[in-house]
Amino acid sequence: MKPSRAHKIRETREERASAPRSLLVVHAAELITLRGPPGPRRHEAAGDLGLVEDGAVYIEGERIVDVGPTPDVLARHPRASVQIDATGKTVLPGFVDGHTHAVFAGSREQEVEWKAQGMDYREIAARGGGILHTVQATRNADEENLARAAAHRLRSLLAFGTTTVEVKSGYGLRTPDELKILKAAAQAGRMAGVDVVPTFLGAHAVPPEFEGRPEAYVDLVAEEMIDAVAKERLAAFCDVFVDEGYFTADQGRRILGRAKSAGFGAKIHADELADTGGASVAAEVGAVSADHLLHASPEGIEGLARTGVIAVLLPATSLASRLPYADGRRLVAAGVPVALGTDFNPNTWCESQQLTIALACHHNGLTPAQAIVAATVNAAHAVGLGPAVGSLERGKRADLLVLDVPSYRHLGYRIGGNVVQVVIKRGAVRGSGPIR
Ligand code: NIG
Ligand code: FE
Repeated sequence: MKPSRAHKIRETREERASAPRSLLVVHAAELITLRGPPGPRRHEAAGDLGLVEDGAVYIEGERIVDVGPTPDVLARHPRASVQIDATGKTVLPGFVDGHTHAVFAGSREQEVEWKAQGMDYREIAARGGGILHTVQATRNADEENLARAAAHRLRSLLAFGTTTVEVKSGYGLRTPDELKILKAAAQAGRMAGVDVVPTFLGAHAVPPEFEGRPEAYVDLVAEEMIDAVAKERLAAFCDVFVDEGYFTADQGRRILGRAKSAGFGAKIHADELADTGGASVAAEVGAVSADHLLHASPEGIEGLARTGVIAVLLPATSLASRLPYADGRRLVAAGVPVALGTDFNPNTWCESQQLTIALACHHNGLTPAQAIVAATVNAAHAVGLGPAVGSLERGKRADLLVLDVPSYRHLGYRIGGNVVQVVIKRGAVRGSGPIR
């Protein structure tokens, strides 16, 4: 990716490889700062963009030093080693992808034909597709190859504007394979220059060798696996797929209770295929996030609002599996903080938070402003990095995007393209998006 000449970027090759000493982005038509009080945005703040017209950002090394109207920032910091003129453009924080399964071997393109014939997620799994198909391939892959494939995917996410990404394990379902995936996730992040937040998802499915003995598999996850992941400090969060045909609410409670005492934050795949009480478990165990929520009950939603659990919506999954869309408008009205993720996985091969934002506007009932909050500051909180990323504020990591559009509203409006012109990751200019 080469930085676009239209931005008059003055820099040397060396500077491009790492963060320059200082960097100025000036004259953004709309600078979306997302500044505000600490904590995820909800209620009336759910769509607060902190918009500055003719805005500028001044960066030193990997950190943001100053943000505000261009004349004010230039008065304080008149020069920088690299300067980007963002006249007519929109500038905002790099996207945070709150939920992916980006480390796996193989692919499942054959399932699109089955979907076209009308098969649903469960029928595809019963036919030999689905999670267990990918588990087979991933068990046979080594860490190096998994990392290389995942890094390739993360570079693509970066080109679409994602600078921080949560990555789950869950295609190993045996202790050494789960550890291998988590190590590959960390390595992939280093290779791609994208910050990765790793999540342990040993309870993604019951593996074939435990068929008919789900409780024995839950024992393995809750004891040996959690201990091993904790010992090697390979994950920040533990997640469980609580849903029909996967794990029960009780099993989720047990695994997440154990995970919390081992020091992990809790996450839940909740109420994606049916309402099996996932949202209520999230509230009960004090999860950081409950994800999917297509079928969340009113009591479940009330529990999330009461306990401040973040709802991570994944509309690309609804698109790829012809499922209903979570009721984002209702979640916002109930006071639940809402975040967004791509759910990138072999069933939902979606690399673009821009597409997720557009889907959220068209199908989840979020406004463009709410969807941008969801894909930045709220997603940062959903992955435990609220104080570090997700907004353009002094002291935060210098992760930002220059979009080739004059207003943020184009993000909800354009479907399936890439308007990212420049990605700045930890203060380093990483180049422009692939489409122009
Ligand atoms: O989030 N729901 C569970 N896991 C993934 C799908 C994984 C797969 O099909 O491989 C999801 O949609
Ligand atoms: Fe998922």
